[in-house]
Amino acid sequence: MITYDPTAKPTIEYVPVAMTGQQSLMGFHRHLLDDPIRTKAFIDAVTKTVRNGDIVADLGTGSGILAMACARAGAKRVYAMESNEIIEAARQLAHANGLSEQVVFLRGESTRTTLPEPVDLVVTECIGLMGPGEMEGALNDLTRRHLKPNGRVIPASISQFLVPVEAARHFEYVHCWSNREVYGFDFSPLQAIASNNVYVAWLDTSSFLSDFQPVGSSAFPSTGSRPVNARLEFEVLRAGQFHGYCGWFEADLGGGIRLSAAPTDAPTVWKQVFLPLETGLSISVGTTIRTDFGFSTVASPNEQPPHLRWDTEVTWPDGSRRVLSQSTIKSIDACFGPPFARGNSRAQ
Ligand SMILES: C[S@@+](CC[C@H](N)C(=O)[O-])C[C@H]1O[C@@H](n2cnc3c(N)ncnc32)[C@H](O)[C@@H]1O
Repeated sequence: MITYDPTAKPTIEYVPVAMTGQQSLMGFHRHLLDDPIRTKAFIDAVTKTVRNGDIVADLGTGSGILAMACARAGAKRVYAMESNEIIEAARQLAHANGLSEQVVFLRGESTRTTLPEPVDLVVTECIGLMGPGEMEGALNDLTRRHLKPNGRVIPASISQFLVPVEAARHFEYVHCWSNREVYGFDFSPLQAIASNNVYVAWLDTSSFLSDFQPVGSSAFPSTGSRPVNARLEFEVLRAGQFHGYCGWFEADLGGGIRLSAAPTDAPTVWKQVFLPLETGLSISVGTTIRTDFGFSTVASPNEQPPHLRWDTEVTWPDGSRRVLSQSTIKSIDACFGPPFARGNSRAQ
């Protein structure tokens, strides 16, 4: 008998797009289902939150796992919304599990889809880097148009956290372009793009140079997406090399269920986010790091795209200072040029 162990190290590393037509099923969605922390947390939350007879919308149903969990928990009807072809596989799964009467599949972008009736609950696992990501705009649109007054949302809220870190291997990976020939060619112009980018990585608490701090929180349903703009002050607690920041999210899924991508908790598909510094800095106990952190998940009124910004001011105990200004907008500008170069890079 074949046993299914989601914690086992996979022997297959990569599923190519070519010729399968269902790359997202065998690659991305399998990867999601293989994360028991993520998947069980959402299924437990759905099981606790769904009331008998509820009308539910599952925004980004993917394999249909949460839509099926809602149906099994007593929902009268679940609108399973999905833009990707994976929805056809989800439809087959609902049928195989005897749930096709309750689950109604709607293929297309949720923002262009109209539900035939208002819903009591919206559930979505479209959590991106450091939390809300691209989901915020679509979720707010759906709840505004279709959630009943006093309707509920899973997740109920998402909070984000940041801490300065010493992470030599991550830093070296990011800084591989400067002062280095690549097969006899100068690739150093790529360094600014690489340094103003966000990386998904594993980090652990031994890399922390200070206590971590909350940077923002979004509660759902929400009336609109608010960019995060946080001014943080970190007191350095150990000497080391300051290489960048580690960021992560924690979601309150309701019913007392919490889903965390923190390095202190069990690993999830999200891992953590590494925001590199343009240059590594030697710091000592008593150094102060002031960080101006911005996170905008939707295009802003001055037409800036979604972006992350991390401006850093380091003040050493002897009073000397260093200021670094970094943003993914710089990467976007370097790749695409204006229009994003106009004005400053601050989130609005
Ligand atoms: C991270 S997956 C989650 C899938 C599934 N709910 C689960 O928990 O395993 C998010 C899915 O949402 C879909 N998606 C994201 N935004 C969407 C939108 N605005 N409308 C429809 N589908 C969307 C993506 O195609 C993707 O399949």
